Amino acid sequence: MSRPPSDYGFLGGSFDPVQKAHIALARAALKERRLKAVYLVPAARSPFKAGGPIASTDDRLAMLRRAVRGVPGLRVGDWEIRRPGPSYTFATLRRLRRAFPGRRWELILGEDAWAGFGGWRRAREIQRFHPLVVARRTGTPTTRGPVANFLKARPGPVSSTAVREAIVAGGAWRDAVPAGVAAIIAARSLYAAPAGLSGREAKTLKRLLTPERWRHSEAVAGWARELAERHGVDPRRAERAGWWHDVAKSWSPARLRTYARRKKMPIPWGKNTTLDPLLHGPVAARWVREHGFLNDKGVLAAIARHTVGGPVMTRLDKVLYVADFSSPDRRYPAAARVRRLAENHLDRALREALRAKMLHTLERGRVLMHTSVGLWNRLVVENT
Ligand SMILES: [Fe+2]
Ligand SMILES: [Fe+2]
Repeated sequence: MSRPPSDYGFLGGSFDPVQKAHIALARAALKERRLKAVYLVPAARSPFKAGGPIASTDDRLAMLRRAVRGVPGLRVGDWEIRRPGPSYTFATLRRLRRAFPGRRWELILGEDAWAGFGGWRRAREIQRFHPLVVARRTGTPTTRGPVANFLKARPGPVSSTAVREAIVAGGAWRDAVPAGVAAIIAARSLYAAPAGLSGREAKTLKRLLTPERWRHSEAVAGWARELAERHGVDPRRAERAGWWHDVAKSWSPARLRTYARRKKMPIPWGKNTTLDPLLHGPVAARWVREHGFLNDKGVLAAIARHTVGGPVMTRLDKVLYVADFSSPDRRYPAAARVRRLAENHLDRALREALRAKMLHTLERGRVLMHTSVGLWNRLVVENT
């Protein structure tokens, strides 16, 4: 290969956390493809995908910067992580082509990403402008994918999930990440428990929630945190509300009613038991307070109101209500609509969520909660 080094490499990923294998892959591409530099480009947290990055934007950037420090030719590109909302690789590459007209970018992929490349948004466009550079896992091709330049080096498998699980389980993980990154993980206790929970809380919730509800709560917590950041609410409070909101969801209606009566909690619908499942909001709030997990009145109120709403709702209440209705694990069509609205308009998203819920209730011939009706009227009046 005689061309002078004038091309750049693009290696995207969630880097949650960045591993030695990422660095080895970037270095191999740099050398073998004679690139001027390779940029490691962390992805933004995607509200549309459950199980997005665990570590915060700042933590992921800090780890990446530490990982490339002192490694010639390796750089960090914060183009995606600093933009709100999900970023598609084709869009980032388009922006790079515009911003740096003289540069050519090669797209560096691990074998799995390469095998799935056909399903990427605008894969053809990417391929037209950007040579693919692929690291095989082993010498023999085990998967198929588009035309690519294969690296001789085998940087080894990358599994951020395995690293995170090892950290939670107290297993061996330090060898998988650069020493500086290990120091950051230890110093900031990243990944030790899910974001927003202490180890004890995580243990309790894991025990109380079914695996499915755990995943739902995790999705709501992450989405609530994201919404909070967008709408000027404390993200940590929103996240905690998300984690705990459904802790009483699996209780039977009879158990919810008994608990509520024993605690002398008001039951707005009186003796009519058909609405009792909605008690899982107020009961959860009471339960987590009494068990010493939460003492923040605003967070408790948000948890209580996530099922029944209220004539007046704080921004935190709205964030949890909307996040619960439209978390990434929700599959009904209204969820996607509310998700999109919620990115910029919290009240409109709330109104749409409420509308969908009330329609559903009406269609099934069930009783409407008067608090929902009151909230609906208020939102309509305020927005006209
Ligand atoms: Fe709920
Ligand atoms: Fe929920």
